Amino acid sequence: MTGTTETIETSPAIVAMLNQKGGVGKTTLTIHVAGALADRDLDVLVVDLAPEGALTSILGYDDEYSDLDRTVSLHELLLDPSRAGDADDIILEGEEFDLLPSNERMVDRTGGELNGEPRARERLKMVLDELGVGYDVVLVDNMPSINVLTDNALVASDGVLIPAYAEALSVQGLDRLQKQIDSVREYFGAVRILGIVANRVEHNKQADAMLEQLHSEFEEGLGIPVIDVYKRVDLQRAIAAQERSIFAAEELDSDMAGVIAEIATLVDDELVGQADE
Ligand SMILES: Nc1ncnc2c1ncn2[C@@H]1O[C@H](COP(=O)(O)OP(=O)(O)OP(=O)(O)O)[C@@H](O)[C@H]1O
Ligand SMILES: [Mg+2]
Repeated sequence: MTGTTETIETSPAIVAMLNQKGGVGKTTLTIHVAGALADRDLDVLVVDLAPEGALTSILGYDDEYSDLDRTVSLHELLLDPSRAGDADDIILEGEEFDLLPSNERMVDRTGGELNGEPRARERLKMVLDELGVGYDVVLVDNMPSINVLTDNALVASDGVLIPAYAEALSVQGLDRLQKQIDSVREYFGAVRILGIVANRVEHNKQADAMLEQLHSEFEEGLGIPVIDVYKRVDLQRAIAAQERSIFAAEELDSDMAGVIAEIATLVDDELVGQADE
């Protein structure tokens, strides 16, 4: 990411990809939505806040993830955000977007060591006040749980995207997530739910019925957009084989590109465009 001298450095729009349910597509969608945002000429930083580091690893940064020699990783920054000022080199620059990687030290440590510390839920916000400068959008990928780390993502973010499966159990789980969002709102002010991504949708009657319920409950009932992303092997393949999003993958013409671009448009219109006005 290079800025010209005329660029006014503004703070980015921060979006958390959140659901305490595992395997709903948080990591997959983080990468493709980041790709779609980059495709709109926005400067994007992806943060891997998940201690297991799936996103870091899937993008080809296993070595950085398991590098225990380095003095500063996201773990240290969260414990002491004042170190973020001289930690620019922690960010890995990519062709589509940059990455603030997870680190193995975060497993079993960061959450526990943060708990009970003052302003424990504001650490990521403080880190991004430094490292997010100059980016248009920061997308935060999360672990599947409701804890101090995912609270950090919520406190830091302006908006939340919720990937969910269009199945009964997943939809019920959204109540718990809503409670987490409400409790953060109480102390830290507005966090907007930008949209729900009905993910890995299959072509069958049961899926159609759940989609209908999701759309009527959230879109018509609460005014929260619901975007349908179908189950497509190319969404996996672009990442697994090419370590990039469908927007930069070679010889890949995904029929989901339009829907994922819609999610990026939502982020851009609701958060980024607004900030420029
Ligand atoms: N739309 C899709 N079509 C096909 N496969 C998908 C789709 N979305 C996600 N997947 C696959 O589903 C699996 C789970 O996705 P992913 O790892 O992104 O979920 P997650 O929410 O990040 O999981 P975790 O909670 O463990 O972090 C992966 O194998 C991924 O490739
Ligand atoms: Mg994940």
